[in-house]
Amino acid sequence: MKTQIVKPQNTNSKVIITGFFEDEKSLSNVQAELNKKFLGVIENNIIKNFEGKFNETLIFPIENGVKIIALGLGKKEELTLNKLREAVSKAISGAKKYIKEGILSVEFIENDNICKKGAAYNTVIAAGIADYKFDKYKTKKDEKIENFEILTNDDDEKIIEGIKKGDILNNAMNFTKDMVFESAEIMTPSKVAEIAKNLADEYKIEAEIFDKNKLKELNFNAFLAVGQGSAQEPKFIRLAYKPENPKKKIVLIGKGITFDSGGLDIKPPSSMLTMKTDMTGCATVLGVMKAICEIKPDVEVHIMSALCENMPSGSSYKVGDVITSKSGKTIEVDNTDAEGRLTLADVLTYADEFNPDEVIDIATLTGAVIVALGNNITGIMGNNQEMIDNFKNTAEKIGEPVWQLPIYEDMMDGLKSDIADMKNTGPRGAGSSVAGRFLQNYTKSKNWLHIDIAGSAYIDKPYRELQKGATGVMVRTLTEYIIK
Ligand code: BES
Ligand code: MN
Ligand code: ZN
Repeated sequence: MKTQIVKPQNTNSKVIITGFFEDEKSLSNVQAELNKKFLGVIENNIIKNFEGKFNETLIFPIENGVKIIALGLGKKEELTLNKLREAVSKAISGAKKYIKEGILSVEFIENDNICKKGAAYNTVIAAGIADYKFDKYKTKKDEKIENFEILTNDDDEKIIEGIKKGDILNNAMNFTKDMVFESAEIMTPSKVAEIAKNLADEYKIEAEIFDKNKLKELNFNAFLAVGQGSAQEPKFIRLAYKPENPKKKIVLIGKGITFDSGGLDIKPPSSMLTMKTDMTGCATVLGVMKAICEIKPDVEVHIMSALCENMPSGSSYKVGDVITSKSGKTIEVDNTDAEGRLTLADVLTYADEFNPDEVIDIATLTGAVIVALGNNITGIMGNNQEMIDNFKNTAEKIGEPVWQLPIYEDMMDGLKSDIADMKNTGPRGAGSSVAGRFLQNYTKSKNWLHIDIAGSAYIDKPYRELQKGATGVMVRTLTEYIIK
């Protein structure tokens, strides 16, 4: 999808989306021009028949196969960037089937309470989300937006900046989604490592990839235990973007279980169904790294992921096994399906070696987060309230809902083991917080944030602008958090 600013007079697009506020009967500058170009259709038909309620759309076919789609934006003073993105994305989704020539145009929608850069950015994101489809395995593909036109006469630099940023983040999210949608048969640890290496080569950044032998040498024992039942070799990846005078150093860790069968504590079929997506954390931090390499902020960013499959076999790790993690702390395996926290524990320990100012991990970690927050809210927790608040504010601005879950010191009581330093699972209640409490043991950082996307990474019905399937959630929020 190529995005461009086009003057309304000059568009050759056959599908044009234009916005209307509720109870507003005057035409915008762009609409006045479209009205002239299309013989008064907006004035004579649309304005008279359209209420402009939020998310309402009405299609007006006019001569030469052109369709003008009126999009309701609700009350003028209530429009926010998040509502704009939702409305535009839904309208584009609905209009996609009409784009025969690959061109789709949207009026640049402005308002006093939203900034130009934000409006442009969110319009492009809206189009990117609506246009995305994992159709690699479909013999018949949907229509695609090849040229996306933003109709305006305004040549403000801010609009161009917003468009650029939108294109960068769309590419990053699509990159993440493509990895998540791909089958586990293809998206193996080795394949992910290859993708990471290619990304590093493309942007000329540092890459470190460890194979099984190197991992043994470095005592990634908890990680190796999880992967030992699989025919696929485990891989660890680290990429680093290092600007000249960084004002801050951040490590991002993504859970990278390329398939989670549960291991010997095997999952029932309905729970296993989406477990190719258990590497979404890894795909997310790779997407963020792609965006960071384009935006080039003065922050040093490392991304890390421990990649393996969790499989049942004769060589699998077993309940009752005691593992000496990379940190030296011992863990009794209470449930082989609580594998993510084991792999993350070793990576958190490794992250400390880089003396980061902040450590953030993102993981499809617990089914419990779905019980607590559903599929559309991401759970966050950590050991620093200021950092949590900061992240929460960024997520709210970007429009990705998050909610903080508590971590209490004494949650360790439930993880007590008779023979080791701790068990990997505890009581059923507050499962997401207990998992967070477990992870907290493995970082020395005083600025650690844990993001549980088990619910929000992959959805089975559309939500606001999001389509079903892989959502690319947190790619935009994490990028914004780093660059702002
Ligand atoms: N990958 C799962 C968590 C998950 C569940 C992700 C649903 C996406 C959707 C994780 O490894 C897991 O199996 N967690 C267990 C932990 C339990 C054994 C303490 C769970 O949530 O059931
Ligand atoms: Mn599991
Ligand atoms: Zn898992």
